[in-house]
Amino acid sequence: MKIISAVNQKGGTGKTTTVINLAAYLSLIGRKVLIIDFDPQANASSGLGIRDLKPGIYEALSGKSSYKDVIRKVKENLFIIPSNSDLAGAGIEMVNLEQREKILKNFILNIPQDFDFVFIDTPPSLGLLTINSLVASSLVLIPVQAEYYALEGLSGLLNTIKLVQNNFSSDISILGAVLTMYDERSRLPQEVLENLHKNFPYRIFKTVIPRNIRLAEAPSFGLCIFDYNSFCRGAKAYRRLGEEFIFYLEVENK
Ligand SMILES: Nc1ncnc2c1ncn2[C@@H]1O[C@H](COP(=O)(O)OP(=O)(O)OP(=O)(O)O)[C@@H](O)[C@H]1O
Ligand SMILES: [Mg+2]
Repeated sequence: MKIISAVNQKGGTGKTTTVINLAAYLSLIGRKVLIIDFDPQANASSGLGIRDLKPGIYEALSGKSSYKDVIRKVKENLFIIPSNSDLAGAGIEMVNLEQREKILKNFILNIPQDFDFVFIDTPPSLGLLTINSLVASSLVLIPVQAEYYALEGLSGLLNTIKLVQNNFSSDISILGAVLTMYDERSRLPQEVLENLHKNFPYRIFKTVIPRNIRLAEAPSFGLCIFDYNSFCRGAKAYRRLGEEFIFYLEVENK
């Protein structure tokens, strides 16, 4: 069971879109996948058509619900533990707990371990929720938006990951960065990509995700891109990203 956090403390870089569609692709090719929505905005939950957000991960972590009550089936092979706005207060409630950084990790240790992949969607901050996600994960995926300020904040993120590695006996490593919302008609994104290659000493996925209106529309129908419009450029890109992901994790890294 590989646990992967999608992290970038910048807002709107494509974390949720990437989690939903990468997870959906993997479920389509037969992997059993769980998404944990760990963002109080609950975009991954609503984007997959979950209407009643309670009970969700907050209720599970605070002992009000058992894991059985919070794992929802989205479709064949794809499951989600939703989030809701109560999770926003959890950061504050957790501050005084012992092992406050390991609450999510300890929870995941107690759910069925038969998922191939668990994806954690995180909020746009480096607060306690994101630290909990990192501590629980073995891999980090960093969606980077192809825009001028894209690289700002990346060093802070890398420092946070190092802090987690050094302080919480975690075996977390960086799976890589994926460039999102790429507009090939403009020069700027190419410069961002070149800059990323110069300044980011980890894997950068060869697949770049284009800016594609279908990707922005799909969540309002509660659908992943493959159920909304399987032939659009966004779907093709997430299929290719999924193939690359599988290659790194199951072929190259066996
Ligand atoms: N490739 C894309 N093409 C067009 N629109 C996109 C693409 N990827 C994401 N979007 C849209 O951009 C917005 C931000 O994307 P998303 O919610 O995935 O980012 P996020 O990093 O999860 O944001 P937050 O930090 O708020 O959690 C959303 O409205 C989404 O539908
Ligand atoms: Mg999000």
